[in-house]
Amino acid sequence: MFHFAGSGMSHSFRLSRPTADMKTLLRIDSSDRKQGSHSRALADFFQTRWLQANPGGQIVSRDLAETLAPHLSNSTIAAFTGVKAADGSPSPEAVILSDVLIAELQAADQIVISSPLYNFNVPSTLKAWIDHVVRFGRTFGMNEHGSRKQRDSTSLGRKAGGY
Ligand SMILES: Cc1cc2nc3c(=O)[nH]c(=O)nc-3n(C[C@H](O)[C@H](O)[C@H](O)COP(=O)(O)O)c2cc1C
Repeated sequence: MFHFAGSGMSHSFRLSRPTADMKTLLRIDSSDRKQGSHSRALADFFQTRWLQANPGGQIVSRDLAETLAPHLSNSTIAAFTGVKAADGSPSPEAVILSDVLIAELQAADQIVISSPLYNFNVPSTLKAWIDHVVRFGRTFGMNEHGSRKQRDSTSLGRKAGGY
């Protein structure tokens, strides 16, 4: 049980912890289309099959059409690296969002990313998400313990033309 108090408000809540064999799938969608999206339909199909294979599993959904991670900036990079930017103060808001997105990633047993092709690339919202979860010393890096925990991940792509 956790308890927070401050500013005249207090809240308490209990964290629901998955049992040892309960798996978590982190689902990332990046199409700007909610209706008629083929990449989201692929992810729906994957999710249905995953739940059949993992009864009682938990789906954590992060919709990048809803969560717009900002582009990296000098102050964001400074905040990520702990180095003060020459032209401004570090951006704590960007770190808070990055920490939340990384926590989702690290809590997941498996990850599925659905993405359209926009102008020969992934949507810029997905690239911004990648920029927020790939942080040296947090999600990648070299140390004496070897590589960090590997996760099973699946990418589902959808394009229209010949590329
Ligand atoms: C802005 C934009 C750019 C696109 N660029 C490409 C492209 O470079 N190559 C391609 O094959 N399809 C391209 N497409 C087509 C999409 O990849 C295709 O319509 C896909 O189904 C979109 O994903 P969704 O159905 O999940 O929304 C583009 C579509 C949009 C809206």
